[in-house]
Amino acid sequence: MIIVTGATGSIGRALIEELGGAARAVVRRAEQGEELGCDYVVGDLERPESIPVGPGDRLFLNRGLWPGFVRAHQAVIDRAAAAGVAQVVTVSVRGATPGGLLGFDMHARADAHLKASGVPWSILAPVGYMQNFAGEVDEEGRMFGSYGKGRVGYIDARDVAAVAAALLTRPVGADATYELTGPQAPTHDEVAAELTRALGRPVRYVDLPVAEAAAHLERRGMPAGTARDLAALMAQIGDGRWADTTTTVAGILGRPPRSLREFLARTGAVAG
Ligand SMILES: NC(=O)c1ccc[n+]([C@@H]2O[C@H](COP(=O)([O-])OP(=O)(O)OC[C@H]3O[C@@H](n4cnc5c(N)ncnc54)[C@H](OP(=O)(O)O)[C@@H]3O)[C@@H](O)[C@H]2O)c1
Repeated sequence: MIIVTGATGSIGRALIEELGGAARAVVRRAEQGEELGCDYVVGDLERPESIPVGPGDRLFLNRGLWPGFVRAHQAVIDRAAAAGVAQVVTVSVRGATPGGLLGFDMHARADAHLKASGVPWSILAPVGYMQNFAGEVDEEGRMFGSYGKGRVGYIDARDVAAVAAALLTRPVGADATYELTGPQAPTHDEVAAELTRALGRPVRYVDLPVAEAAAHLERRGMPAGTARDLAALMAQIGDGRWADTTTTVAGILGRPPRSLREFLARTGAVAG
């Protein structure tokens, strides 16, 4: 059985589609399972005992970041190991490093626990998702950030899901980390040009110093500490750490990852 956590998220929904009837979704509320229209169990990653894993199952372990992420992730991994799960496929982030900002640190610690668990593992390490652009453009056609001229190999989260589906349905392979990117790495000025084309109205990227980007995020409702870290992270990403692209998606799927233009044509620049 393939168990899919984070099933209502950007990756999870696409993964459920990719797997057809072959998945059991873990959802926090029954109506989410009804809406997904697949086999489901109500469970919560904060309660590891509610995650329905048994011997030989393959577990897709993913969810958004929230306080307590590392502890909860580790407890679910321990439960999977004790249950004799055949494989855990999880979503991390490219360049996860202990002591890094936000998810970079959290994922590094969760990944280390998985690697030491004894359960066969596959770690997906994507860069930023194209889905992030939804809602980023304001009424005046501006999108803000602190990436400078840095390039980012943005990936469609659906391609992350397609890779996960391939790894979960093939015979369990060797433990590995897969660095996943889209086919190109645009600057944010180039992203704005693509959004202009897709939306049919002018969009421009406005680069802000870290302190101003943090204040902007805070005005949009983000807690001050998270806003400061996220703005600093954008500047770090701008140094080029996500600028090169990999051939991993094509190697696994036998087709190239979707371009930003293809993504925007499919979604109308608004959703996943
Ligand atoms: N966004 C990016 O650019 C980016 C880049 C690299 C890596 N990542 C990583 O990608 C992952 C997020 O994937 P995503 O975008 O598919 O997620 P998402 O769209 O943010 O969805 C989050 C999912 O997690 C579920 N969830 C949250 N708390 C939960 C809990 N306590 N128990 C069970 N489920 C819970 C949510 O369920 P509900 O519907 O019930 O809330 C939802 O299904 C994160 O690990 C993030 O660090 C993101």
